[in-house]
Amino acid sequence: MQRLKNKTCVVTGAARGIGRAIAARFQDEGAIVIVTDMDEAAGAATAAEIGCAFEPLDVREEADWLRLARIVPIADVVVNNAGVTGFEAGATAHDPEHASLADWRAVHQVNLDGTFLGCRYAIGAMKAKGAGSIINISSRSGLVGIPMAAAYASSKAAIRNHSKTVALYCAQQGWTIRCNAIHPAAILTPMWEPMLGSGPDREARMQALVADTPLKRFGTPEEVAAVAAMLASDEATYVTGTEIHIDGGLLAGSAASPG
Ligand SMILES: NC(=O)c1ccc[n+]([C@@H]2O[C@H](COP(=O)([O-])OP(=O)(O)OC[C@H]3O[C@@H](n4cnc5c(N)ncnc54)[C@H](O)[C@@H]3O)[C@@H](O)[C@H]2O)c1
Repeated sequence: MQRLKNKTCVVTGAARGIGRAIAARFQDEGAIVIVTDMDEAAGAATAAEIGCAFEPLDVREEADWLRLARIVPIADVVVNNAGVTGFEAGATAHDPEHASLADWRAVHQVNLDGTFLGCRYAIGAMKAKGAGSIINISSRSGLVGIPMAAAYASSKAAIRNHSKTVALYCAQQGWTIRCNAIHPAAILTPMWEPMLGSGPDREARMQALVADTPLKRFGTPEEVAAVAAMLASDEATYVTGTEIHIDGGLLAGSAASPG
């Protein structure tokens, strides 16, 4: 299908995982895709495999966004996907009692500051046309408390709210610049590797992580990309300020739901 034919689409953190799947799906849908990532080698390799452009971009860096605005001044779709849990470098305390201020800020810098800067870039790149689609990748962790990942949960909750603010602001300006949030739960990507490990108990650990998920499995990056393609397309022109859960039914009930 060519639902994004000739739309210029920027995807952050697209070297791997969900961002990569979104970039590949957008390319299949006929878009002009710009893969961006702070990992230049992996980002360039992914872009070459997909057959699209690559631009280095650390979402925390305002100067990188200003550079992107010079190179890609007009965009139809921006996906603010780059995100970190804070566990990339190994086990670190991220509970509300023991987390360090530096670790708390580091997670917010990528997830929240990065999304703020990405939305600001997107508005600038879309307002000449007065139309576009901003897609912010939040998380189910932005909807519920996560005792051992406080900064991640806080930053994702803030993304959820900022998406609504951006949607309302753009509507107030008379633009059809839509802004929506996607809330994935467990999607099998490299982000999970530090938690899954490679030992013989990997499979058991995976099963335990999705034991409370009604569909009893991890989601795939491609399943997130399919929803992003819909939100990016002109099939969703009346969809703004909303949020879509991709969670195998997890948030339909809760641990308090009677069995
Ligand atoms: N995988 C899941 O289960 C899951 C669930 C909910 C939400 N999410 C969210 O989806 C998004 C993608 O997650 P993923 O699982 O594909 O992660 P991933 O770790 O596999 O990939 C993240 C990508 O972001 C890039 N990145 C990290 N910091 C960056 C920065 N400062 N600037 C630019 N790029 C940066 C990395 O280089 C990497 O390519 C994240 O926002 C994550 O929080 C993932």
